[in-house]
Amino acid sequence: GNTVRLLKINNFLYPPFSADVIEGVPDVEIREDDVIICAYPKAGTHWVWEIVRYLLAGKTSGVPLVEKDNCMIEWMPADRLKDLPSPRVLNTHLLFRQLPRQAKQTRCKIIYVNRNPKDLAVSCYHHHRKLSEFYNYEGTWDDFLPLFLNGQLDYGSWFDYVKDWERAVQDNSDMPIHVTSYEELKQSPVEEIVRLAQFLGARSALPARDFAARVEERCSFRSMKSRKGWFDMSNDGEPIMYRKGEVGDWKNWFSVVQNEAMDGYLKQYMSDSKTKFIYDLSQSST
Ligand code: A3P
Repeated sequence: GNTVRLLKINNFLYPPFSADVIEGVPDVEIREDDVIICAYPKAGTHWVWEIVRYLLAGKTSGVPLVEKDNCMIEWMPADRLKDLPSPRVLNTHLLFRQLPRQAKQTRCKIIYVNRNPKDLAVSCYHHHRKLSEFYNYEGTWDDFLPLFLNGQLDYGSWFDYVKDWERAVQDNSDMPIHVTSYEELKQSPVEEIVRLAQFLGARSALPARDFAARVEERCSFRSMKSRKGWFDMSNDGEPIMYRKGEVGDWKNWFSVVQNEAMDGYLKQYMSDSKTKFIYDLSQSST
């Protein structure tokens, strides 16, 4: 079809996952040493998740291969999450207020990842197209962009998501929440990884920058794509989670009219947002 198959629970849109897992999220047990990666789909969840795993391991070899999707709060049944060894690196596309209750009580570490909405929309389109059976989606890019702009996708409107998280970060300044972005990671990966390591209190035998450089190499697009796991094959055999891995690919997809439409939505919905989105790596804009 030309729309995406979704689940609606408590007025919020989810991918067509099991409703009982989603309904159980508030009661999921959280440990003090958990780290939760939070991002709208396609903002770089896998990338940051993998970086954090190596940072916590304090080494880049001999770290067991684990699937990000086995550590996803709204997808993995609670008893499967319980089986994961500490320190767990969990991940979710939920809003702050939808996180398990214990996430706030234990004050576990949270990493929130942003990405510019133009690249993100393009990435989302490919995600839904490649998972066409799961989402029952066969539309074109032109059909897809209005779904993105109007929040007719899993996890709802990107605009609402970003504004909600922005407010959550601001209102919970006593909580350990670290904010990073796809573009900053692309622009200065070693610096951003050092910042992440500092936030996590991650330790390694190597000097901070040397270790960060090794983690960067281990988590490069090429390197991660070569280790892709069970989840990463779509119907047509193309990898789903590793597509282009660039900043600015949106220019190959957006027509002038589509770009104006996106800018119009940004103006209308994000004018009070303090987040500066980076649309290409040679210049920054809002
Ligand atoms: P593109 O579709 O623009 O290539 P998520 O992990 O949140 O699903 O995000 C997926 C996006 O991150 C995809 O973007 C994917 O290619 C990109 N990505 C995955 N691993 C990456 C890496 N190691 N470095 C840079 N981008 C990566």
